[in-house]
Amino acid sequence: MRLDLEGLRVVITAAASGIGRATAQMFADHGANVWVCDIDAEALTDVCEHDRIDGVIADVGDTASVDRFMSASITALGGIDVLVNNAGIAGPGGRVEDLDPADVTRTLDLDVTSMFRTSRHAIPVMKQARSGLIVNISSTAGYLGFPYRSPYAAAKWAVIGLTKTMAMELGEYGVRANAICPGSITGPRMDHVIELESQASGRSAEDIRAGFERQVSMRTFIDPDEIAQTICFLASPLGLKISGQVLSVDGHTETLRTS
Ligand SMILES: NC(=O)c1ccc[n+]([C@@H]2O[C@H](COP(=O)([O-])OP(=O)(O)OC[C@H]3O[C@@H](n4cnc5c(N)ncnc54)[C@H](O)[C@@H]3O)[C@@H](O)[C@H]2O)c1
Repeated sequence: MRLDLEGLRVVITAAASGIGRATAQMFADHGANVWVCDIDAEALTDVCEHDRIDGVIADVGDTASVDRFMSASITALGGIDVLVNNAGIAGPGGRVEDLDPADVTRTLDLDVTSMFRTSRHAIPVMKQARSGLIVNISSTAGYLGFPYRSPYAAAKWAVIGLTKTMAMELGEYGVRANAICPGSITGPRMDHVIELESQASGRSAEDIRAGFERQVSMRTFIDPDEIAQTICFLASPLGLKISGQVLSVDGHTETLRTS
């Protein structure tokens, strides 16, 4: 069995750090050609040090910016085999009744509408090629309720609805769509989420962190490389008939309640 990713043309949003970066590097290390975007110029330059990774600054919340990024990627790569819609923000913390609707709208825009902004460029190219894979990054909050994080949960559930619909619309063209639900990823983002929840609930950060670990049957956080491996598997010949699926890579999350 071989992953056989050599020469694949891969586009990944928000890939200057975390899951996106790990995925870009794993594809590139296996011979794929990768285009990425991010809003963090310094981190973007760093990830593009790899000779198979290229990229531009683009804000997934801005349609014109995404238009430029997707056009540049598809032109430079000569097509697109894999689109990873990775970008997504944590959104505000707080009880539903205390949230500012503008913050809710922004979370939905960056976590869901952004996927429409990129996919409308990739889909016609993939349909014409009669092959392709779209991977949308959801979350365990994409199928569980998440107290004090309702905008994020609403957005990530929407990602799954979008993915299932993409799989139905695109299957007859040989194009696949799958969602991945990562568990809590080690790194600064989870540190920030824990801080937000601590502020919203009045509990200590240590207590919140211990609560996150108790939610998971395997009592583990997830490494970004473990998500990258699953995406590479889906993009490889081993995943050729997998579409419309929601894959959790999380050690089995039982609940997102931390108290
Ligand atoms: N970290 C977790 O525990 C976790 C768990 C489940 C799901 N996820 C999801 O995985 C995806 C990636 O998360 P991560 O933890 O790797 O992120 P991260 O915080 O490590 O990195 C996010 C990247 O997105 C970039 N970014 C932020 N806003 C952007 C914008 N408007 N346009 C373009 N780039 C932007 C940042 O500069 C950064 O490089 C997200 O969709 C997230 O919701 C993360």
